[in-house]
Amino acid sequence: MNGVPNNIILVGLMGAGKTTVGKVLAKRLGKVFIDSDHEIEKRCGVKIPTIFEMEGEDGFRKREASVIKDLVALDNIVLATGGGSVLLPENRENLREFGYVIYLRANPHDLWLRTRHDKSRPLLNTPNPQKKFRELFAIRDPLYTSIAHQIIDTGRPNVNQLTNQLVMQLE
Ligand code: S3P
Repeated sequence: MNGVPNNIILVGLMGAGKTTVGKVLAKRLGKVFIDSDHEIEKRCGVKIPTIFEMEGEDGFRKREASVIKDLVALDNIVLATGGGSVLLPENRENLREFGYVIYLRANPHDLWLRTRHDKSRPLLNTPNPQKKFRELFAIRDPLYTSIAHQIIDTGRPNVNQLTNQLVMQLE
């Protein structure tokens, strides 16, 4: 790679490790870490499940698109995106143009294992979250892949190993 990219964007399904890896990566590369879900919550003053309850998924997606549009005006950041941020073509374009997109890829079963005790994700609040992950993977894997400059398999033992590998490649 020709120098560390200014902006790094992490995409992938819920549980892929975008926030965890993003924080470590930002620290290692001297960049500011931003989580788009956290920015949405800050702006609305409520948590994501409440936004879904009050405005439905459509309302949430509109807020997400507006936050992403603003975030891509920043510089020198590592951005962890929400898993559904790639659904709108407008977001995909914005993210791809903004910087170096890394898709943290994992299989639906591992993602389910990692998130099964988590109550903060409305889409997983379903009788069969394993099936939900399979459906989300089928729809979104091609979308993440379409904007990714790099795909990383997150089946690796730990975040440090993953970040070390990334830092070595980016430097
Ligand atoms: C969503 C993923 C969540 C959050 C929201 C919807 C999705 O973010 O944006 O619950 O559609 O996959 P994480 O991927 O950070 O969990």
